Amino acid sequence: MKIRNMMIGAIAAAVAAFSLPAFSQQPIVIKFSHVVANDTPKGHAAEFFKKKAEELTGGKVKVEVYANSTLYKDKEEMEALQLGAVQMLAPSLAKFGPLGVKEFEVFDLPYIFDNYDELHKVTSGPVGRQLLDKLEAKGIRGLAYWDNGFKSFSANKPLHTPEDFKGQKMRIQSSKVLEAQMRALGCLPQVMAFSEVYQALQTGVVDGTENPISNLYTQKMHEVQKHLSLTEHGYLGYAVIVNKKFWDGLPADIRAKLEDAMGQATRYANQIAKVENDKSLEAVKASGKTQVYTPTAQERLAIKKVLVKTHTDMESRIGKGLIQSIYKETGFDPAKL
Ligand code: LMR
Repeated sequence: MKIRNMMIGAIAAAVAAFSLPAFSQQPIVIKFSHVVANDTPKGHAAEFFKKKAEELTGGKVKVEVYANSTLYKDKEEMEALQLGAVQMLAPSLAKFGPLGVKEFEVFDLPYIFDNYDELHKVTSGPVGRQLLDKLEAKGIRGLAYWDNGFKSFSANKPLHTPEDFKGQKMRIQSSKVLEAQMRALGCLPQVMAFSEVYQALQTGVVDGTENPISNLYTQKMHEVQKHLSLTEHGYLGYAVIVNKKFWDGLPADIRAKLEDAMGQATRYANQIAKVENDKSLEAVKASGKTQVYTPTAQERLAIKKVLVKTHTDMESRIGKGLIQSIYKETGFDPAKL
């Protein structure tokens, strides 16, 4: 009996050893879930990463991209990543508060960045890295920052001066800074998943919203918003994140190739972001469905003065030191307004 058991054990071991190569030939699957359309900066960058990752690993890795909230909505996708149901996401930096990493909301502060160059000083420097490192405690590894662009306000009435905003119900992402921003303008902010915004605008659940134009256009929000004011008052971009356990468990050579693919995808994402937003703006104008308005320098300044107050209001949430370190990188000085 003992010998028989030993023989079965030996056979099982041999079978296991024999079938190991067959197992290792199965590609490693990375499910990459996101909430925007394919034809957006993030959508294109995700597809670029998929292509590069599969190419560089010689097919050992298969990346499945699920766009447009087809797999998960905003809040669910964060949970799915932590549970390992998906391996990669690129949520907007405004969506990390509910996870407990509220420092990312510093990117939501209105007018903290005037342009992409100022922003890149932060995202490609030590402050950007330190923020990504804060995700480790949540079982998440931050790999990169991908740009989208600068947000503008839309509604069913013209939004030229701060007074025009009063009483408007505005959809926001799940960020306390964005809530404070809307309240500073006298709006009623409402947190809502991105996938629900079009319908909420259509049915009047909310009056307006804010987004870079590529998001507005690809979700057809311009069809249910009569006015778009090119305020470019705040930045919206992404952190590409992975389940840490999954990432750390990858064979080192595969991980290195994926990091290479991510580096290339990041350069690509940040190259196309502005172009894609400019294209979308032209398309919105051509549609004739929404009136596009560029605020005058005076109107801009009036809105800016109201919104920049949120920087001090949010110090206790985000950290004064963090806000100051960004001012230092970009040269922004609210006292000079
Ligand atoms: C939003 O919810 O408005 C954006 O974060 C969507 C996105 O991912 O760009």
